[in-house]
Amino acid sequence: MGAKKFPELDPIIEKYRGKKGILIPVLHEVQNRVGYLPDDIQKHISRELKVPLSKITGVISFYSFFTTEPQGDHTLGICLGTACYVKGAEDLVDEVKDQLDISEGETSADGTFTLTVTRCVGTCSLAPVLMVDNKYYGNLTPADISGILEKYQDSSQEGN
Ligand code: FES
Repeated sequence: MGAKKFPELDPIIEKYRGKKGILIPVLHEVQNRVGYLPDDIQKHISRELKVPLSKITGVISFYSFFTTEPQGDHTLGICLGTACYVKGAEDLVDEVKDQLDISEGETSADGTFTLTVTRCVGTCSLAPVLMVDNKYYGNLTPADISGILEKYQDSSQEGN
């Protein structure tokens, strides 16, 4: 007893209860609902769907789209594919880290941004590339970063 309950997840749990090969779809749906997959929720899924917790943690750590940390309102994805790398993408990463005081995978203190690095996003002619959510910014230098971040910080404060 004493296990934490997550009534908002009941519809997802019920949909998959008793079925096989459902772990990845369940985790997707739960992450879409909650935003991330913290320990309490992993244990809840394990208990309810009778999947070993070790299997759940293994799947979450294997697939980069699952996260155990809360995510910011916007995801910054800096491409570290070859074309971007040789054009200085690491300097962009360093600039974002400095400006937001976060590391890869972390979220800024105000909850606006989560920093990720990606493989080639398919727009090498624009290298180096930063994606903010689904929008591409290309041919960047570190000096461009603050202007881009400001756009999203302003819109977050306006509630958009
Ligand atoms: S390597 Fe960055 S877009 Fe291709």
